[in-house]
Amino acid sequence: MIKDVIVALDFPTREETLSFLDQFPAGSKPFVKIGMELFYAEGPQIVRDIKARGHKIFLDLKLHDIPNTVKRAMAVLSRLDVDMVNLHAAGAGEMMRAALEGLTRSDGTRPLLIAVTQLTSTDAKALKNELLIDVPMAETVLSYAKNAADSGLDGVVCSPLEAALVKERCGADFVTVTPGIRFADSAAGDQKRMMTPEKAGKSGCDLIVVGRPITQAEDPVAAYQRAVTDFLG
Ligand code: C5P
Repeated sequence: MIKDVIVALDFPTREETLSFLDQFPAGSKPFVKIGMELFYAEGPQIVRDIKARGHKIFLDLKLHDIPNTVKRAMAVLSRLDVDMVNLHAAGAGEMMRAALEGLTRSDGTRPLLIAVTQLTSTDAKALKNELLIDVPMAETVLSYAKNAADSGLDGVVCSPLEAALVKERCGADFVTVTPGIRFADSAAGDQKRMMTPEKAGKSGCDLIVVGRPITQAEDPVAAYQRAVTDFLG
């Protein structure tokens, strides 16, 4: 697995997104994440435009529906030539296997497919009282991750604090994609369980997702380069 830093393009419009990317020198093409806000605002054309500029793209739309619907939606996303997409592991094995089928192009290639286990916004109380899941959070995360691995998925989104455990349960090649990354001197914002890029690099994280510490930095290009250098060591 190639380790890399993914920049979260959490911008509301095409203009803001492209003017952010315009700051990077011609030879520097960060791997980027497009989430629901930008995708729903601008539609699939923003994906094509960013791809045409030479960036790898993680399309973070977290699909969760019946297997046939997810399979057909994944086929559409695969045609956008993105590099990585995701779904909710809560959709269960049949949905995850259908997603893989939909993603696979006629030449046998496909984007990486990763699963969201439990959202980090779900706390222990909501897990027990609302979702009626009566085992500890860490156990459901690892069990959902194992189910994703057994269904043929490539990895999971998880906290950097869980990455090593996920690797232990699902294998060294199972990809860990980890948000919740902060420089030692950057603001936490709403993130609660954080790690520095340097520590993440030594803790089983394959792809770190970094948003505000780069997008809100005074010098975003320098912040990106700092994250890459710290993470890759
Ligand atoms: O700005 P910040 O570095 O916190 O951005 C992290 C990115 O990762 C955001 O796009 C956020 O939605 C996403 N994310 C997260 N925690 C998760 C899943 C996704 O922070 N559990």
